[in-house]
Amino acid sequence: RGTPALRVTERSDVVDWWPELGPAAEKYTRGVVGLATGSAAYPGAAVLSVGGALAGPTGLVRYAGSARADVLLQHPSVIASGRVADAGRVQAWVCGSGLGTGEEAAAELRAVLAAPVPVVLDADALTLLVDGSMADRLRQRDAPIVVTPHDREFARLCGEEPGADRAAAALRLAAWMNAVVLLKGDRTIVATPDGRAYVNPTGTPALATGGTGDVLAGLLGSLLAAGLAPERAAAAAAYLHGLAGREAARSGPVTAPDVAAALRPVVAGLLHGR
Ligand code: APR
Ligand code: MG
Repeated sequence: RGTPALRVTERSDVVDWWPELGPAAEKYTRGVVGLATGSAAYPGAAVLSVGGALAGPTGLVRYAGSARADVLLQHPSVIASGRVADAGRVQAWVCGSGLGTGEEAAAELRAVLAAPVPVVLDADALTLLVDGSMADRLRQRDAPIVVTPHDREFARLCGEEPGADRAAAALRLAAWMNAVVLLKGDRTIVATPDGRAYVNPTGTPALATGGTGDVLAGLLGSLLAAGLAPERAAAAAAYLHGLAGREAARSGPVTAPDVAAALRPVVAGLLHGR
């Protein structure tokens, strides 16, 4: 049997899904995204995920974590706090990139999962999920969850590698977790629990460099906070992230900050003349 309803994300999809910025726009109604990412050991993950979020459609970015000094130095428009509990209201959370896997990280993940808003779980949050009590918290959640594993993270969650049929693998994990799965890599797949899947056509091996996944997670969180359905937010984020990787590669070897910076002109190009 083939994979049902596998479709390629198209440029016109992303244009259609991107929220309209009307004349009465207001920062809170554009959406507020929160990031519980980074740590003293990995402040770069915080800076990069915030960089991705700032390229998205939200009106406000909040950061909660121990890399706040680094985040504010790089991104002065962010509102930063030390803990998720002190962050104030957000419409979507991103959790896990560079967060660490110790008790403090687990407490922050629990705080994110307790919020009744969509969440993106990346990197260390996926490692923490392998703990059974975290898995129970996931099943008790009503608000959407998007998980963003690369192949090794997928294998830790599933107990097996994605294998040759990546769409089928992503669909299995999505159904099992009752979450949208963004399975990263060459031809990134977005799969929904009800059996739909998107394949991303814009990827480039230039993205195969440390930290680009953190940028993707931040952008995805912004799209969720702006109100996109989780599978659309995920497919749009992967699409734009790929274009940004290609754009960044035009001027030399790509680093993750280049991808974050390239997202802005890529989004502008997408929306030009809409
Ligand atoms: N083709 C297209 N896209 C690719 C390719 C490829 N060949 N290789 C990687 N990518 C994209 C993925 O789709 C994803 O969007 O690059 C991004 C890489 O994201 P991650 O795998 O999450 O890597 P990242 O977290 O940025 O890397 C740093 O990796 O091993 C860990 O602990 C290490 O924190 C470090 C992290
Ligand atoms: Mg990663």
